[in-house]
Amino acid sequence: MRMQSTNALFRRATLSSSSSTLSIVRRSTLTTGGRSFATSTSTTQTSTTTNSNSSALLQTPTRTQSHPIQRLPATTNPSTTRTMASACGTSSPSGSHLEKIPNTSIRILRTVSSVRRFRKHLTVDSRSVALVPTMGALHTGHLRLIRAAARDNHHVIVSIYVNPAQFGVREDLSSYPVTWEADCAALAKLDRELADDGENLGRISAVFAPTTGEMYPGGFPGQEVDSKGSFVTITPVGEVLEGSSRPTFFRGVATVCMKLFNVVQPTRVYFGQKDVQQTVVIKRLVEDFLMPIEEVVVVPTERDARGDGLALSSRNVYLGERRRAVANVLYRALKAAEGAYAAGEGVKEREGILGAADKVVEETLKEQMALEPSRRVRFEVDYLSLADPETMMELDVVDTSKGGILSGAVRFLPVEEPREGEDLGHSGGPLVRLIDNIILPGK
Ligand code: PAJ
Repeated sequence: MRMQSTNALFRRATLSSSSSTLSIVRRSTLTTGGRSFATSTSTTQTSTTTNSNSSALLQTPTRTQSHPIQRLPATTNPSTTRTMASACGTSSPSGSHLEKIPNTSIRILRTVSSVRRFRKHLTVDSRSVALVPTMGALHTGHLRLIRAAARDNHHVIVSIYVNPAQFGVREDLSSYPVTWEADCAALAKLDRELADDGENLGRISAVFAPTTGEMYPGGFPGQEVDSKGSFVTITPVGEVLEGSSRPTFFRGVATVCMKLFNVVQPTRVYFGQKDVQQTVVIKRLVEDFLMPIEEVVVVPTERDARGDGLALSSRNVYLGERRRAVANVLYRALKAAEGAYAAGEGVKEREGILGAADKVVEETLKEQMALEPSRRVRFEVDYLSLADPETMMELDVVDTSKGGILSGAVRFLPVEEPREGEDLGHSGGPLVRLIDNIILPGK
């Protein structure tokens, strides 16, 4: 049995609201035959743990599943709310199968059978089909994926479905932004651009916007860790990092993506590097289940036009201006780690690389601590990781031929003392958890 100790796997830096002291918690990991077990071996600790219950994104469950099989009423799913918003689509008098986004040729498909029918024609014509899975609330990061898909494929199908299975019971699914009208408008605009650009092989052919009833025909199995039902689990990659704080997340992602792939039968699928662990899970899914998909294409992360490096995310709207100004701390920390990796002549050790990231976090926390409560921003680093690009297992040393993945997650706490008229972000500025990553390329 191989036992490998990896120190400083997780680093948590906290600016406590009450004592304004800094704490760094390091967890160590024992890797046993490819599996990793995190144990808390904390070092320095001073502060009171900051615990925010005021988050609109992490609220008390709105739907607790006490039964092994739960059937969500169709109308409680945001996706359903979306699909019921008819203002965006125009249907033919004969039925919904010819529904389109107005003034475009983009079909709106709401059922599995309608996608299958649509796909059949494309197969007969030997056309390549790209699938871009999304949960809507489309921003330019999503559009970048669609652009990449249109460049190399005859048809692009965008799915918009807020998948309840990837939300934990403590996460408030109902607060996930639903912006169907704006999404349709963004797709229509992009499709016109694609049509005008001769470099593209294809355009957006259809949006697949199913209900939970369509996606879980046997009944929605629930969001509990021990919910019974038909799930796809990809371990150990789905258990670490994002999977450790959200134990049902990658099970939900893998399950819904398997369903989407089976329905659309895409030639290629497009995912964002922004969610790098998700891309590793999807690659494993495609390979291990022998799925007939030619390529899982990973598209680089789109960052905010403001130019400070913040990765675009549907969650950024919850930040408000004060927290937005500090929100790039994770990106800056990862860039410092990347710089340390590049500078280290042949030495590619974890401590040196992640130490550079820690320094940026510590400095930023100190700066914030020096400010008045009505000016400062409180945040906690959930983890900073240096991992293997294929398994997401933590690395002590980077093998330069393979490279590595630097990633992290930061929780921005609600502001302490809002100022008069201050923009707190959507929904009053709840706790916002942001993730980001940088790939260290192999040679
Ligand atoms: P969602 O968060 O809507 O993201 C859809 C796709 O857009 C993902 O592949 C994500 O990585 C990509 N994306 C998000 N922000 C990006 C950015 N700033 N730059 C580039 N790509 C970005 O990820 C999901 O939905 C879901 O888990 C899903 C795969 C749809 C399964 O439900």
